Amino acid sequence: MRIMLFSSQPYDRDSFSAATLPDGCSLAFQHAHLGLDTAALANNCEVVCAFINDDLSAPVLQQLAAGGTRLIALRSAGYNHVDLQAAQQLGLSVVRVPAYSPFAIAEHAVALILALNRRIHRAFNRTREGDFSLHGLIGFDLHGKTVGIIGTGQIGAAFARIMAGFGCQLLAHDPYPDSDLQALGVRYLPLDEILQQAQIISLHCPLTPGTRHLINQQSLARLQPGSMLINTGRGALVDTPALIDALKDGQLGYLGLDVYEEEAALFFEDQSDLPLQDDVLARLLTFPNVIITAHQAFLTREALSAIAETTLSNIADWAAGTPNNLVTA
Ligand code: NAI
Repeated sequence: MRIMLFSSQPYDRDSFSAATLPDGCSLAFQHAHLGLDTAALANNCEVVCAFINDDLSAPVLQQLAAGGTRLIALRSAGYNHVDLQAAQQLGLSVVRVPAYSPFAIAEHAVALILALNRRIHRAFNRTREGDFSLHGLIGFDLHGKTVGIIGTGQIGAAFARIMAGFGCQLLAHDPYPDSDLQALGVRYLPLDEILQQAQIISLHCPLTPGTRHLINQQSLARLQPGSMLINTGRGALVDTPALIDALKDGQLGYLGLDVYEEEAALFFEDQSDLPLQDDVLARLLTFPNVIITAHQAFLTREALSAIAETTLSNIADWAAGTPNNLVTA
């Protein structure tokens, strides 16, 4: 059985080659994104292994099914990019990696908070230029500050535990409160109250029709002036042009993004020789109080290894007729 990995990077090749390959399977690595123009590369591949910026819309799934694909094995937890109804109608199974290392993403969110607060990105550049001045680098103690966590699943819970260690007050919003977190001191409140009370907001909920542009002009207006927003969830959880307005008038004091609504055309590739065509991203990059990373929160050795092992065992389970980690419409 041939497994075609789209959007694969050298680190995917390393982690999948080191993982346990099910009997009778072979791997084919394809650097290109999956889309209408590349789906034919998977002809005769029973399994297509896709990542977050691959196109898994109905027309692409139709082409894959026509070429003999029967399983879509996602190398991600998120599945907002898959047309699950179309997959079901075409008889395609979809599996995912529900949890590989929540710590990887939670720790990256904390890295963004610390770097933004203590202006590490500016200090790094300054000292390398021989500028040892401290103006503009004043931070704040995290101890005693109020942090709002939107979504307390695997990643949000790991993030809450780290921030509790800093001595922060923790507020959370999630339709399913976690009693272990409540025992840790986390208070669940409606979203609006969190926006008003927290100095730092971190997004850890999935992208769904209900959470699309959860952070928009109206919700940003409810924040305390100068608040910090961190998004390691999905780009479309926030209305990006509204963020630019909030940064311009100081309503937003700090912004850390690992995801961007229009990232599919840019992230994971070296575009440094090309003029940046995305004017919204270009404007965001001009703010000294904004740090953008290119969807790297998952990128730890432990997470890559767990993604490869779980993906291949998902494929083995499906081939054995006992599918695991299925995603259904
Ligand atoms: P999870 O499924 O364990 O937790 C999600 C939580 O969000 C659940 O508790 C759910 O009840 C809650 N939720 C759903 N709708 C909500 C709403 N409207 N408001 C508040 N909470 C809501 O998922 P996990 O593993 O914690 O991942 C969260 C998200 O993080 C993923 O959906 C994915 O988009 C993103 N992610 C980002 C990565 C990166 O590299 N930047 C890597 C992995 C995941």
